[in-house]
Amino acid sequence: MTDEQLIELARTAAAKAYAPYSRFHVGCAVESVGGEVVTGANMENACYRLGLCAEQSALTAAQHKFGLDKVARIAVAGGSDATVCTPCGGCRQAILEAAQLSGRDVEILCAGGDGGNVERYAISELIPHGFGPANLQG
Ligand code: THU
Repeated sequence: MTDEQLIELARTAAAKAYAPYSRFHVGCAVESVGGEVVTGANMENACYRLGLCAEQSALTAAQHKFGLDKVARIAVAGGSDATVCTPCGGCRQAILEAAQLSGRDVEILCAGGDGGNVERYAISELIPHGFGPANLQG
């Protein structure tokens, strides 16, 4: 799948976000090493702190569809303009979990809601010196 296609899937997922409180819609598409793709979107709650981010929603689906250890690439798209949406700190930690399980420096394509601007990062750039499952071995 091309970068553009993965970003488009994230944008489509963002359209299905449940975000009546922030009105900030985020979508995420996770691609496996075998080319399978799952998506998720943010899901808010009247009890604000219970809201779920798009990345964690998509990573949950990824675990069920092909396993976190098979995560290869992630696209995130959010907001209503060209400003790229990068994963929040908690989502970086969630992506690091998959990255350490898979042994890959997972690539993250970050786009604005209009899909125009795209920034590309490796998880090691977004959360350097992170604490993950590798720290709990041994
Ligand atoms: N949000 C995400 O879904 N992912 C991120 O990485 C950043 C923030 C959501 C959470 C909340 O529903 C809304 O965007 C505004 O913060």
